[in-house]
Parts: sequence; C-alpha cells; structure tokens
Amino acid sequence: MEAYETFEYDVLVIGAGGAGLRAVIAAREAGCSVGVVCKSLLGKAHTVMAEGGVAAALGNMKSLDGQNEPDSWKVHLTDTFKGGAFLNNPRTVEIFAKEAPERVLELEQYGAVFDRTPEGLIAERPFGGHKYRRLNHVGDRTGLELIRTVQDKAVGVGMSVHMEVTLTRLLTEDGRVVGAFGYHRDNGKFVVFRAKAFVLATGGWGRMYKFTSNSWEGTGDGLQMAYNVGAELMDMEMIQFHPTGMAWPPGMRGILVTEGVRGEGGILKNNKGERFMFNPDYTPALYKGQFAETPEEAARWLDDKKANRRPPELLPRDVVARAIYKEVEAGRGTEHKAVYLDVTHRGAEYIKRKLPSMYEQFHALGAVDITKEPMEVYPTIHYTMGGVWAEPEGCATSVPGLFAAGEVAAGLHGANRLGGNSLSDILVFGKRAGEGAAAFAKTAKLGKIDNAQIEEELGVLMAPLSATTGESPYAIHSELQETMQNDCMIARTEEGLSRALAKVEELKARAKTLKVSGGTAFNPGWHAARDIRFMLATSEIIVRCALQRKESRGAQWRLDYPSLDAEWGKKNLIATKGSDRVNIVERPITPMTDEIKAIIEEYK
Ligand code: FUM
Repeated sequence: MEAYETFEYDVLVIGAGGAGLRAVIAAREAGCSVGVVCKSLLGKAHTVMAEGGVAAALGNMKSLDGQNEPDSWKVHLTDTFKGGAFLNNPRTVEIFAKEAPERVLELEQYGAVFDRTPEGLIAERPFGGHKYRRLNHVGDRTGLELIRTVQDKAVGVGMSVHMEVTLTRLLTEDGRVVGAFGYHRDNGKFVVFRAKAFVLATGGWGRMYKFTSNSWEGTGDGLQMAYNVGAELMDMEMIQFHPTGMAWPPGMRGILVTEGVRGEGGILKNNKGERFMFNPDYTPALYKGQFAETPEEAARWLDDKKANRRPPELLPRDVVARAIYKEVEAGRGTEHKAVYLDVTHRGAEYIKRKLPSMYEQFHALGAVDITKEPMEVYPTIHYTMGGVWAEPEGCATSVPGLFAAGEVAAGLHGANRLGGNSLSDILVFGKRAGEGAAAFAKTAKLGKIDNAQIEEELGVLMAPLSATTGESPYAIHSELQETMQNDCMIARTEEGLSRALAKVEELKARAKTLKVSGGTAFNPGWHAARDIRFMLATSEIIVRCALQRKESRGAQWRLDYPSLDAEWGKKNLIATKGSDRVNIVERPITPMTDEIKAIIEEYK
C-alpha cells in the first residue's frame, strides 16, 4: 500500500465555490470542525462565471411590464417553475424563492458591495425569464464579488483549507460515507480525509463538450464519486446551453458573454441586421402553456415585447439558445457561425460602468471594442441542471453521510435554469447543506476506513503509469468532446444520440488501457487519465437519459419529439449505478401542494 496522510474533521466540504464556502460558514457556526478541499486554488471556481447577478426578489425595482406591485418570492417561484418547464422539485423551489432575499442581504452584511439605485438600494437588472428586475449585481462581476465575500467570511469563522487536491473516491462503511481519498495535484502524494459528514459542492461537468464556459476543473469528479457509492442522479439530460458564448477568435470560443449584456439592453441580430428574437416561430412554447395559455394571450405577450417592456432577448435561456442555433443553421449567421449581440446604443460610458469585464474581455481576447461594434456570440455549455438528488430541507443525498449543494445537486432548476438563480441557489442550499451536515455530524462518530477500497482506487490511479501500451487520455478527451458537441448538443435526435452512445461506449472500452509517462508528481497527463474516466461515465448517463426522454422540454430539444409531452412532464429520470451499467428509471415528480398550485395560478 502507498503511504498517505490522513486528516480528520467533523465535516468535510468538497469544493470551494460559493456553495462549498457557504456550507463551511454554516457548519462552523453550528460548532463543527471543518475542512475544505479545493481542486484548484481557493477562490477559483465556476461561481465567478455567474457574472450578471444573483436572483432574489428584493423588490427594489418595478416589474418589467410596468406594474407597480412589488416583486415577491411568489413571483420568483412562479418564474422559476416556468423557466424550468415544471420539472422542478416544488419544495426545493419554495425554500429557494422564500430564502433568497435573506441570503442576499446577509451577503451584503458579510461585506459584498452591490451596485446601487439612485435611492441607495441594491440595484437589480432584468434577466431572461424573470418577470421583475431581480438580478442584484455588482457590474458584471457578481460571482466574483460573491465568492470574495463568502471566502472572507469563511476565513473569519475558521476552516482548514486543502488546495490543489483532487478527490477521486468516497469511502464507505456499511453504505455510509466515512472518508474521501485522492491526491495532491502538485506532488502527487495521496491523502485520506475522515469526517462524520461530507458536503459535496463540486460544481458541474461541462468539459466533455468542446465549447464551454467551464474551466479545466469541470470534469464531474464529485458527481461520479457520489454515483459510485450509490447516490441517485436526477435529470442528467438537462445541460444548459447559455445563449451567448464568445464565437471568435477560435481559441476563445465558448467563453461566457454574460446575460447581463442583454439585461442592459443588448439586442441580438442576424447577418441581415434583423432582430430575430421578434420572430414568433422562436417562441413556440408560448402556445403550449409555458408562457401563455392561448394564442391571444401570446399575441399580447409579444406586443409587450415589441413595446420593449420585456425584450425578447430576455426569454429563458433554452428559448434564446434554440433561436440562435436556428438562425445559424438557416444561413443567417456571421462568417464565424454566430449571431451579433449589439449593446453599442447604450454608449461607452454606460457600457464601461455596467459591463466592465465584457469590455475588457472582448478588447483583450478578440480585439473588439464593444462600445463601437457588436459582439459575435453562439451558445456555449454553461451549467448542469441535473445532478445528485438532494432533499431540500437539509440537502441530504440518498447516501447516508453525504450532502450536496450547488450545481452538483439537482432539484431546483428543472429542465432549464433561469440566469442568476445559480448564485442564490448556492447561498440558500450551501447554508442548508452545511447545517444538514453539521446536524448529522453531531449524532455520528468517525467511521472506519476500509483499506481495500483505497487499494482498489490506487489500482485505477496507478495503472496508466505502469502500462507499456495504451491510449492517451488527451486523445480520448478530444474525441469525446467532438462527439458530445456534435451529437448531444442543443438539437438532439435518436440517430445522433445513438451515434453518441456508440462512440462513448467505444471510448470507454479504449480508456480501460490508458498510458501516461512520468510519475505522480507534477503530472497533468496522469490527472487527465482519471478525469477522462469520470467524463466518459457521465457522458454515457447524459446520452442515455437524453435518449430515454422522448419529448422536448427546456434544455432537452428533440427534433424527433418536438413538443412538450404531458406524461413526460410528470416524470424525473433517476439514474443509479447498476452492476454493469447505469439503471435509469422514471419517477413521478413530487406533487405540488395546493398552496403552491394557487400561487402559480395567480402569478403566471
Ligand atoms: O450570464 C451570466 O451572467 C450568467 C449567470 C448565471 O449563469 O447565473
């Protein structure tokens, strides 16, 4: 057996983005000792990629349609269900919408410096699918400010930080998670963490796609570790294509262009200069009950948009991403297979003040001055709505001792997340997960570590270093990205998904014999060998779930099943690890209470 160091805590938080750090604060405030593991450096997390704001019904500004009634959690709840095409867990949404304002105000008390209204209130901007200006923001750097703030607070309450550590296996005793095993990315030394409870806050897994806003960490290790110890995964087919990623230059394709640009009045145009989001063909859901019940209501709704009270660019992300895709497919895109996003009419001073990062990003990376010329944008993989099922009260997963919050968890966003709901999600459920784990830890003892489980994982980790022949993990990753990008992207078909499944299975077989040179120290090739197995396993689940859901809903757009299907609308897809492959079952969505039904009826 290789030697390894061991650390012990009451609660171990895996992942140091906003959800993980908010869980740290909660668990410390509950009196627990807390360790936190970051795959990267503390403060470097996908949280910063939620740039445009944190959604919470503070009610500081008027509704977009000019009504004077202030925003409320009830409208936010209704918008979140509509945006998620009603696949969301009702109790998760209720808790979220009710608690988001308190969490945002608390963030301000921790020291976040929000933009202000002339009256001195926190400034809120419009975002897709939100009826009110509800995105509390710090220019276009809201995620960065959020993580800066919770990090300061977490350092203040005290935590033990383990940076640049990749965990690859959860260790169990009689089905309960009692440990986590992995390695230091720099020196390659192995490490075991023992804790009474674990919070999984490892974020999403966009790196199996070619064009993504995710950085290198997003390989889904946390998701796979949970899956491998029996956790239920929910609605894994639901991957969010953010409508606007950079499209040019090629090396920058996929980098996020915040929805804040459209929130600040940016408009989308095709190569004919048409503002194509006014095309009623792009809002078919209007006629299917998602936004309007009748064609008359839909016509009124579109009129509202023409009057610019609710710009059509601010439809939910799934709708806008599909429209951009269709424009490009119809030959109305730019020379770089993209569309134009134009905010120049807001003037240079305004753009530089409200969208400073976008100004700098395009200037530095694309030699484009967004105060003078339009940006070129195309959908990019941004977020995973599906993930580890976590019950909403304390974020417990289906595996004892394991709690989950943030992007890795499922339940809140349904088939499509509204922009800005990610940041409030991580605050609300990061806190709850920390509290849930702390409560569990108080009733539990440290469990026993089973060396056989560590030996098994060491076998997986070390094999590519001793192999005399085998495939390169980078080559397999590149083929996987091509496959997922081509056949499991926005527009899906049985044919394309079946092709993707066959390719993923082929790659999985080839990845059984990987070969990398060097040792465990300072060896990115060795890290890639573990990452690719996680990504292949996750890709297979995504593709199988996308094949199984025979309808179009939110992010799942099936060209061969183009409509919402009432029966499918009653079911979540639950994936669990079987003996030789994933088991996928259809589970009825938790019914709404009468109170929630009445709220939706009143506000929709
Ligand atoms: O476009 C954005 O600023 C992203 C926000 C989000 O994903 O919530």
